[in-house]
Amino acid sequence: MRALTFDPDLTFTDVPDPVPAPSQALIRVAAFSLNFGEIAYRSANVPPGYVPGWDAAGVVVRAAADGSGPAAGTRVVTFGWSGAWAELRTVDTADMAAVPEAVDLGTAAALPVAGVTALQAVRRLGEVAGRRVLVTGASGGVGRYAVQLAARAGAHVVASAGSAARAEGLRELGAAEIVLGPENLDGRVYGVLDNVGGRQLAEAFYRLEDDGVVMAIGRAARETTVIDFELAGARSARGRIENFNVAAPFGADLAHLLGLLAAGDLDAQVGWRGPWEEAGKAADALLARQVAGKAVVDL
Ligand SMILES: NC(=O)c1ccc[n+]([C@@H]2O[C@H](COP(=O)([O-])OP(=O)(O)OC[C@H]3O[C@@H](n4cnc5c(N)ncnc54)[C@H](OP(=O)(O)O)[C@@H]3O)[C@@H](O)[C@H]2O)c1
Repeated sequence: MRALTFDPDLTFTDVPDPVPAPSQALIRVAAFSLNFGEIAYRSANVPPGYVPGWDAAGVVVRAAADGSGPAAGTRVVTFGWSGAWAELRTVDTADMAAVPEAVDLGTAAALPVAGVTALQAVRRLGEVAGRRVLVTGASGGVGRYAVQLAARAGAHVVASAGSAARAEGLRELGAAEIVLGPENLDGRVYGVLDNVGGRQLAEAFYRLEDDGVVMAIGRAARETTVIDFELAGARSARGRIENFNVAAPFGADLAHLLGLLAAGDLDAQVGWRGPWEEAGKAADALLARQVAGKAVVDL
């Protein structure tokens, strides 16, 4: 089958078809989406024929041998830590969900890692209704879902972006305030969903309420974070930072997000969409902060 691999740039390669384990279904991929992490942090130490890629949507070709999961012919969205950037992928049935007719497969492909990360991180903040929540990197894939899901949970959302142009559309998604960097935030916040790390994480931490919490999701800035805890202590009595890592299985959370999409209560924010011959351009645009939300690649 045809697959996209790093060699070191994105290149088409012929690789053997994947063989499903008993708990896995075989999927014909229709579309996948790109994530910052799988491009910026790609590993050079991978075996020959290794196919990268986390998020893909498509159609079940062969149901799982153990009887779990959807039947052949079902449209599904899928997550796994490899294998999405290919014509066929194998996926554990616990990491997929059936896509409603109202949702196109390319839109569904924009959901897995970014959408489930935002959903789980908002949940981890606890009760946010009526509380101020800052989202850094709000213009990106995780950020645009986080703004929507925190606003749906009743938070007063402050969306932080790198420029007014990058912030376009964030108010429509539910942001009550826009700031160009956490250093420009007036007052304090209860929660922070931090996708950027480095200086932005430190500035956000300094602005926590006494019992506030930062979910340290990402470090898109690729900077080391330096925090002056004595300075922070003067402002927030018990403010804390929690390490956040998205947790599998994804199936139930994907089904929840698909329900929101189908009802028109969530927008996948696809900022780039094109054929997989142009996936390299999409990857470059994503790292250069030129994609508003998700980049989706059609096969
Ligand atoms: N812990 C987990 O489980 C988990 C899960 C998913 C993602 N992540 C991480 O979360 C972060 C965000 O992921 P994503 O998929 O939302 O990425 P993305 O779509 O590329 O968005 C990242 C955002 O960060 C901002 N940013 C600030 N400085 C940047 C810089 N120097 N380079 C690139 N972006 C910069 C950009 O906003 P402006 O241009 O507006 O400044 C951009 O929109 C990444 O670090 C990713 O690896 C972690």
